[in-house]
Amino acid sequence: MSFRAAIITVSDTGFAGERIDQSGPLIRDMLIQAGYEVVLYRILPDERAELVEHLSALCDRHQADLILTTGGTGFSPRDYTPEATMDIAERLVPGIPEAMRAYSLQKTNRAMLSRSVAVIRGQTLIINLPGSPRAAKENLECILPALEHGLAIMTGTAKDCAVPPGPV
Ligand code: MTE
Repeated sequence: MSFRAAIITVSDTGFAGERIDQSGPLIRDMLIQAGYEVVLYRILPDERAELVEHLSALCDRHQADLILTTGGTGFSPRDYTPEATMDIAERLVPGIPEAMRAYSLQKTNRAMLSRSVAVIRGQTLIINLPGSPRAAKENLECILPALEHGLAIMTGTAKDCAVPPGPV
């Protein structure tokens, strides 16, 4: 089963064309490698209302099973990606950001500075990744192995819950 994924880079400088976005394409490559169909990739500014509008439209039109955002999870005054995500949440998925931070803390103690959240709206899972390419990659590599099973349960296509062997 191939799930449809959308990638949204949240960055004022990326949106303005002042910085080349490396994280979005990197996430796209990782998703394709893992068997996902990437249906959308776009860059948005750090504007909470705009993000709410785009995220909710993607979910409500069911254009993607998974939305990965990258950026805007830190402490800077315009970092509002988690709040925009929470604005449209129907169900919370705390285990995903818990896992990402636990895994990332083994690499850098600054992992605690990401305020990422994961939520479900309708039949779409939205996950915030931090903005730097390195952080986005490390967070995504942590969750990818378990993600497909979660998406299968969410979309009603899961076959069983047998736990495969191996570390988390
Ligand atoms: N997580 C991992 N795995 N690796 C990292 O280098 N950087 C951290 C954190 N999470 C990092 C990480 C830092 S320095 C910040 S400020 C936060 O993510 C928030 O990043 P953002 O504001 O770009 O979203």
